[in-house]
Amino acid sequence: MITLTRAEGSLAEGQAPLKVAWVKEGRLLSQGEALDARLGGLLRRALEGASLKEGESLLVAAPEGQVLLFGLGEDARSSGGRLAQALLRLRFPEALVEPLPEAYALAEGLLLGAYRFDRHRSEKEEKALTLRLPEAEEVLERARKVAEGVYLARDLVNEPPNLLTPEALAERALELRALGVEVEVLDEEAIASLGMGAFLAVAQGSENPPRFIRLRYAPPGARARLDLVGKGLTFDSGGYSLKPTEGMTTMKGDMAGAAAVLGAMKSAALLGLPVEIRGYIAACENMISGRAYRVGDVLKTLSGKTVEVMNTDAEGRLTLADALFYAEREGAERILELSTLTGAAVVALGEEVAALFATEPAWGSLVQEAAHRAGEKVWPMPLEKAYREKLKSPVADLKNVGDRNGGAITAALFLSEFVRVPLAHLDIAGPAFAKKGHALGPEGGTGFGVRTILEVAQAL
Ligand code: BES
Ligand code: ZN
Ligand code: ZN
Repeated sequence: MITLTRAEGSLAEGQAPLKVAWVKEGRLLSQGEALDARLGGLLRRALEGASLKEGESLLVAAPEGQVLLFGLGEDARSSGGRLAQALLRLRFPEALVEPLPEAYALAEGLLLGAYRFDRHRSEKEEKALTLRLPEAEEVLERARKVAEGVYLARDLVNEPPNLLTPEALAERALELRALGVEVEVLDEEAIASLGMGAFLAVAQGSENPPRFIRLRYAPPGARARLDLVGKGLTFDSGGYSLKPTEGMTTMKGDMAGAAAVLGAMKSAALLGLPVEIRGYIAACENMISGRAYRVGDVLKTLSGKTVEVMNTDAEGRLTLADALFYAEREGAERILELSTLTGAAVVALGEEVAALFATEPAWGSLVQEAAHRAGEKVWPMPLEKAYREKLKSPVADLKNVGDRNGGAITAALFLSEFVRVPLAHLDIAGPAFAKKGHALGPEGGTGFGVRTILEVAQAL
């Protein structure tokens, strides 16, 4: 548990049992210098001969309390995350932190870096950390509200798939009603009567029934509208095109797109963003049973287009085809869709960078720039029309996979068949789930996408 509070007074004037001063290239910053002057050069002497790299620290005992000298890197957000982790590790309960020019990024980094998921541990690490920052309350408040959304998205991704079933995910969505978000959940029967044949086919192999979740955050006088779609596979075994165990280990996180949508909705409502945001999630499991869909099945999507299933592990695009078409039918002007869609995106861009595809350049640029401001890494990829023929089927309008080559592109082309309004598709298969701890959090769900969505909404 971490709390950020506003501190009165600078590092030199403030009172605290522990003060944190940043060190960059061997030098103190201005408030650190002022503190050092008060301490008669104690800090500078301590730094002599040492070279503190990013994330490294040196604890100095001063007459009025201790001072932690902490190595600052290029990025204030990451350095904040590392600092929070170091303070938790050292079990310091409280500290006064020197401000940085990047005040907001620092506050956000401190909160994100301190995230832990110990809901299912018998022994909780009950470490509480209070950080005081001499910053404007608005800055801290925004960081807290954004972090709430990121925390929600991470919690949902980290929750095991036996507990976070499609119904349970819908229950978590319904909790957003408390913040004034309208939430409606459609059950299997309602999904069937709508005609979402592709979504239902993916869901039909599971004992846990699917849910279609609609969300609407509509503040009075909203200046624009944004429609979000998130992939909501609470577990992806691959179906009859079964994944090997290794590939299945992170598949509880195949609802990270949905988690980002819910997290962003939560933050947007807390922040009171003046934009109407709608969200759509087709939540289900991809399982094997006597009822499961097969390779070779032909499905009728909500749009009326038919799809021949050539690989049951390419299930996300089937659920998204129906969700995207539904979003447009509900009046979306432009759609931002997030999904852990392809291993090919991870091969292309690695674990840290999401692949961005856009059917319209201006919408793509807006999303790319928003991600950049949010500090989330995305890179544009081509929706190459020449590859559209890879999706031709001998028996249906489309098949659900191309060949091995350009797999992230053919997946994006498949999605684009189901929308006419501008679509930005973020393939977050890499960055949604961290295989090891990092500056902004531990191993597991990252909450990737929440901050980008909020920046997009703010830019409208
Ligand atoms: N959920 C996976 C994609 C994925 C892979 C997410 C790795 C996170 C990490 C998706 O449903 C899938 O299995 N895609 C297949 C598509 C293929 C059959 C065309 C893939 O990428 O192998
Ligand atoms: Zn799959
Ligand atoms: Zn999947």
